[in-house]
Amino acid sequence: MPPGPNDSRFLKACRREPTDAPPVWFMRQAGRYMAEYRALREQHSLLDLCHTPELAAEVTLQPLRLGVDAAIIFADILLPFEPLGLGLSFAAGEGPQLATPIRTPADVTRLSPVDPAEHLGYVLEAIRLAVRALSPVIPLIGFAGAPFTLASYAIEGGSSRTFDLTKRFMYEEPHAWHALLGNLAELVGKYLAAQAAAGARALQLFDSWVGCLSPADYCNYVLPHSRHAIEVAKASGVPVIHFGTGTATFLAEFAAAGGDVVGVDWRMPLGRAWEIIGPARAIQGNLDPVALLAPTPVREQMVRDVLAQAAGRPGHIFNLGHGILPETPVEAVRAVVEQVHGG
Ligand code: CP3
Repeated sequence: MPPGPNDSRFLKACRREPTDAPPVWFMRQAGRYMAEYRALREQHSLLDLCHTPELAAEVTLQPLRLGVDAAIIFADILLPFEPLGLGLSFAAGEGPQLATPIRTPADVTRLSPVDPAEHLGYVLEAIRLAVRALSPVIPLIGFAGAPFTLASYAIEGGSSRTFDLTKRFMYEEPHAWHALLGNLAELVGKYLAAQAAAGARALQLFDSWVGCLSPADYCNYVLPHSRHAIEVAKASGVPVIHFGTGTATFLAEFAAAGGDVVGVDWRMPLGRAWEIIGPARAIQGNLDPVALLAPTPVREQMVRDVLAQAAGRPGHIFNLGHGILPETPVEAVRAVVEQVHGG
């Protein structure tokens, strides 16, 4: 049989099988740091790119020239807010904005039911197109936002530093909070499974901002919902990557919510993270994204440090601890890929 995605370094590492070199890809690997992305963005808004399967598939393929071992479908975690009825827009330079954020329990009951196949069908079509265009040994990763991170945007109405509205809603309206997270968990679980059915070979759940919580609050208010989302996604049969940042103080609990692969950031050495998570799971991470802006010898040493922490264990997927920053030089990204592959 000719080699297929199952023989790829990336999927082998998801299954904790040995590979000739660690697989490497980057969160936010398609984006503003690439000239060809900026050129497309001059003609199309971010939402237009996401809504147009041909364009989303094209952007998905752009970073492959850097030698990465996986592609991630070009979309955004906030897209489900459109069919939920929250009114999503991206203001230039200001990030996401919601026209009607969730502020009361009644707002939760007013959310429209979402059918991923119908309301997010354009993402599924982009996945089909991208898979058709990809080399058979480069798997495509599908993704969605985790219930907590999505709820934080839904409640804050945009980006936040302190998450005070989110936490107040959680503490003041626990019943509505659990209804909201339960709704989001079911939605993203089904959405992820639909992405696998469309051809995604792995699925990543982004809990980007969950590190703003205490361990106790994570367990009480979030963990059961993340677990449910992952269980529903897992039914599709493809590996799930459970990613969070700032999770060092509750990494065991975070890992307990599930995922074949646990994504960790740079705040904890990868070796210690692996001790906490245990040998039965693969690990993704965990270079500081700012390393890509550091002087070359510093960056090279930081990459060596991550690899030394992984110590050649099967099941290490090299990645950043969070997304690529827009000011990142493309050549630094390419150099990290080569270094990880042993060049
Ligand atoms: O290759 C890829 O990974 C690109 C696909 C992708 C995007 N968003 C496109 C995008 C992915 C995986 C995301 C995930 C996403 N979106 C997350 C989780 C990952 C993380 O970084 O924590 C979050 C929190 C969002 C929400 C979001 N989308 C914000 C806060 C912003 C504005 C901030 C910014 O970087 O400008 C976006 C916009 C966005 N989504 C961009 C891209 C490439 C940049 C906007 C642009 O092109 O104008």
